[in-house]
Amino acid sequence: MPEQSLSRRNFLWAVGATGGAGTMFAAMGALGLAPTAVAASRFQPPSASDFHLQGRAAGSVVILGGGVAGLISAYELGKAGYRVTVLEPRDRTGGRVLTVRGGDELTDLRGFHQRAAFRRGQYMNAGAARLAQWMVTLDYCRELRVPIEVFTNANADAYMHLRPMPAGQPVRYRTAKADTYGYMSELLAKATDQGALDAELTADDKEILTGFLTDFGDLGDRYEYNGSTRRGFTTWPGEVGVPGVARADVPSVSDVIASGVGWYFSFENGFDQAMPMFQPVGGMDMLPRALTRAIGAERVKLGCRVTALTQAATGVTVTYSDAAGRSRSLTADYAIATMPPQLLVKLTHNLGADVVAALSAAQPVSAGKLGLEYRSRWWETDHRIYGGITWTDTEITQIWHPSYDYLGERGVLIGYYQFGETADRYAAMPPKERETTAVGLGERIYGAKYRTELASSFSVPWSQVPHVEGAWHHLSGHSPQSPVFTPLAEPAGRVFFAGDWLSNMPSWQHGAILSARKAVTLLHGRALAAR
Ligand code: ALA
Repeated sequence: MPEQSLSRRNFLWAVGATGGAGTMFAAMGALGLAPTAVAASRFQPPSASDFHLQGRAAGSVVILGGGVAGLISAYELGKAGYRVTVLEPRDRTGGRVLTVRGGDELTDLRGFHQRAAFRRGQYMNAGAARLAQWMVTLDYCRELRVPIEVFTNANADAYMHLRPMPAGQPVRYRTAKADTYGYMSELLAKATDQGALDAELTADDKEILTGFLTDFGDLGDRYEYNGSTRRGFTTWPGEVGVPGVARADVPSVSDVIASGVGWYFSFENGFDQAMPMFQPVGGMDMLPRALTRAIGAERVKLGCRVTALTQAATGVTVTYSDAAGRSRSLTADYAIATMPPQLLVKLTHNLGADVVAALSAAQPVSAGKLGLEYRSRWWETDHRIYGGITWTDTEITQIWHPSYDYLGERGVLIGYYQFGETADRYAAMPPKERETTAVGLGERIYGAKYRTELASSFSVPWSQVPHVEGAWHHLSGHSPQSPVFTPLAEPAGRVFFAGDWLSNMPSWQHGAILSARKAVTLLHGRALAAR
């Protein structure tokens, strides 16, 4: 922002927006607007001391939605001394951070009812399931003492099962990757050696590049790929006298290209998907549970469905039906709306046309997961796969092996994690049909135990989950920075907005948390300015 456009008030807003309330308060101190300056170079969530320093009584905030954005908003505002009330329509907090255990029930919008029969200790993370180590989510796990463990997001011994593969047989991830890297290296090394890149490369460049490719693809002296021990062995190296037998079934370069397997190897490089990744021990919902306890369960009202939101000059009034079905209303100084945008826009409200346009730009995306509980961990004993993902080009898309309870007796696989139109099609099936169809496809990869060892299943079609109605959102061609979202990102009234969809990390708790921190910071700045 150019310096001349920074009025003192704008400057405070800018600092507050990027640096948080602690930073803003420090800046106010530096400008002589506050009694004490607190040096802060990074985000500081609002703390109670802000108010003591101001000598200001805390305000009240009603928060619509008890997902991660709502819980973080309540938690941070609670620390700052605000009186918060969270209204959550479902019977638990966490939103799409949903861990399904035995006894949990779901009646979806089509009326399909399921009751999980998972044994004690077994669970599926039906929504959020993995955390990158740079994500702010881990900071809250530390703060709230939620233990974490590694989530295995890629596994060299899981399978790739793509129908164009020779004989349609699954191959190990490491095998397919070695062949892909090997042949691509061979082609590039030969092209380089034969002068095809002379316009781009010096003689030194060519020598260094072909040397690198020989190593990267495990090539021979003439840049040929003839297979590699990286593909794995049919007899693993062992004691003296057992040197091992490397897999000899090297496909042709055409077979590898035609299989399409190369497309799958960029996933593990994604900045949000690269290993190591983590999960809370005992289920992803351990974090929302801990947040709910820290906020105070009495401030989190479950079974409360908001129907109307009205802001006036002096406050915000929310009308809702409580768990007993009684109509109630609550007035607070401010509100933070963290409901899914496509449901928020349907409330009776006076938020204005610009807010409606912004909320309408966020459209829900479908996804679904199926949990399959097995009586034995045959993928560990028979296939020697401990965690990680098998990829397939059939409609189940991927199968996740559990990253907890290794060597245990039972385990829950994720039998599909599918998106878009495929997820919609499975959502329309009765749960038993989802199971039967998915198990039939998984059996092609793993064999009969995929069916015979099955104990129970539970599936979550996110587009059909009441009060959620989507897995995440796309922004109709807009970026979160688009002016269409300004009425939500910098709201003029007493209603603030937060959610993963209103961030640059949609579909991640990280995005929900940072969006909530931004809303809380704006709200707090507004409350300070209104003194
Ligand atoms: N963040 C979601 C995932 O990792 C989409 O699957």
